[in-house]
Amino acid sequence: MVFDAYGTLLDVFSIARQAELAYPGNGQNIAFGCRDKQVEYSRLIAMADPDPVHGSRHHKSFGGITLAALQYTLARLGLDESGLQGLADAHERLEPFPDVAPVLARLHAAGVKTAVLSNGDSGALSRVLTHAHLIEHFDRIISAEEARTYKIAPSVYGLVSRHFPHPETPVMFVSSNGWDIVGAGWFGFRTFWLNRAGLPAETIGPVPDHVGKSLSELLDVLGVHIANH
Ligand code: LAC
Repeated sequence: MVFDAYGTLLDVFSIARQAELAYPGNGQNIAFGCRDKQVEYSRLIAMADPDPVHGSRHHKSFGGITLAALQYTLARLGLDESGLQGLADAHERLEPFPDVAPVLARLHAAGVKTAVLSNGDSGALSRVLTHAHLIEHFDRIISAEEARTYKIAPSVYGLVSRHFPHPETPVMFVSSNGWDIVGAGWFGFRTFWLNRAGLPAETIGPVPDHVGKSLSELLDVLGVHIANH
């Protein structure tokens, strides 16, 4: 069972509160703008001139991308950079969604192997997942850093088989990000789209194998898979 991190386990928009304190009236716009730009920049790097062995020739750390995304967002909103570093640091203290820890604890108790597969840098992932008290629930934390590119480059999804060469069941990939579910589906993973926000389904790419409004619905799906294998 493989989980995306940002937006799935961790609420990326939880920086809005700190952003609001630093820039009154702009908290939500900063949080949403920064996330959009962060995803866009990671895609730019993944698309540009890929080297199949060494990853993107234009690689930049995810922390660097986040800082660049914040800089752009502040400039776009006509704001100064006085709160820039504080907001970048806040990305290491994101709040976990409340449905996450109980489900992970049950999966682990049932002996299900669990991993994170995220665009985040490995050090930052360890820190943010430790801060959120989630790290102990995972067998592996897999960072896109190992492939020197970003989702939805297939080489990033391919890292899973490096870490779990002999999976007992087909990989199930869980993400709240519709684009990540499309990438994982194209790669060949089974997918669970965690649609907490009640968004419309993506209109390109494979239909997710499962959709739930809460992570707890994953337990029902897993029960079916355990019975089938
Ligand atoms: C992740 C972000 C991009 O890979 O959702 O964790």
